[in-house]
Amino acid sequence: MKILGIETSCDETAAAVVENGTKILSSVVASSAEMHAKTGGVIPEAAARQQVRSILPVITETLGNQKDIAAIAVTVGPGLIGSLLVGVETAKTLSFLWQKPIVPVNHLVAHIYANWLTNGPPALPALALVVSGGHTDLVLMEKHGQLSWIGGTRDDAAGEAFDKSARLLGLPYPGGPSIAAEAEKLKATNIKLDLFPRPMIGESNFDWSFSGLKTAVMREVASKKKVDKARLAAEVQEAIVDVLVEKTLSAVKKFKPKSLLLAGGVSANARLREKFKEAVAARSLPVELKFPPAKLCTDNAAYIASFAFFNLFPVSWKNLSVNPEATIV
Ligand code: KG4
Ligand code: ZN
Repeated sequence: MKILGIETSCDETAAAVVENGTKILSSVVASSAEMHAKTGGVIPEAAARQQVRSILPVITETLGNQKDIAAIAVTVGPGLIGSLLVGVETAKTLSFLWQKPIVPVNHLVAHIYANWLTNGPPALPALALVVSGGHTDLVLMEKHGQLSWIGGTRDDAAGEAFDKSARLLGLPYPGGPSIAAEAEKLKATNIKLDLFPRPMIGESNFDWSFSGLKTAVMREVASKKKVDKARLAAEVQEAIVDVLVEKTLSAVKKFKPKSLLLAGGVSANARLREKFKEAVAARSLPVELKFPPAKLCTDNAAYIASFAFFNLFPVSWKNLSVNPEATIV
């Protein structure tokens, strides 16, 4: 069964055709990140206008010679309302024209399905850490469609902490990849990275708080005549990674899932993956750690289509609307 996925929740315009939820037949992502780099972040109006420009070329390129599309999957939320509307209205039009059903997709839950697109399906129940630009959530997935929320951030998302810290260090948007690249310069050294606090790390809940990190970075930058960008980037990355790994693995201990799935843009971070691997091995946890290849972690439409295959609840185009404030469960 071939599903056309459409994703326009923020500054990426993406479409993909996926077979049986696991095989990517075609996937195209157009990003307006370069445009947003000039303003240091996403301006919703500008992102929506770019979505309008890109949506038809992206879908046309994705479809190529693909035939027999059985259903359309589209992100309805969470995201920027103007951007979401472009994808949803396009999906409705295609549904009407092709007389094919539409599956509405929650972008955050769909991120987890990037783990179904490579190396065989994860065993369930799974614990999923979803770390993106606007959200940080830990969810327990008993089976498809049955998710419970275990914990999350009380303020900034992990991706936001990367993005805001990068801005304070004068590194370009998006901040996650910039911080990771800058931190890489320190990799060969053995400097202890413990400058910044690890909030809530010892608490017996599965929550995070990242807003204090941004203040700590601001203070550090203000107190120095010359800023060692590589050092501070490595410090920021290590502080974020440490709390994500520690809290998530304490949830693994408690809930004993068969697999641990990393998802969302921040899960592309090499240090995060490395530290998870080391910690799972060091603690001999009986869990299979899975993370998608980096380019499937950041926004794309392949996981949107994959989600729809495993959660096939189509609606009529007449009943479809956007839900910018949607939460993961
Ligand atoms: O999932 P995503 O592509 O979009 C949202 O749904 O938000 O996540 C974007 C976030 C941004 O905050 C970006 O800085 C972060 O993911 N990110 C990274 C890396 N690549 C993207 N953070 C750390 N390391 C990376 N390599
Ligand atoms: Zn995303």
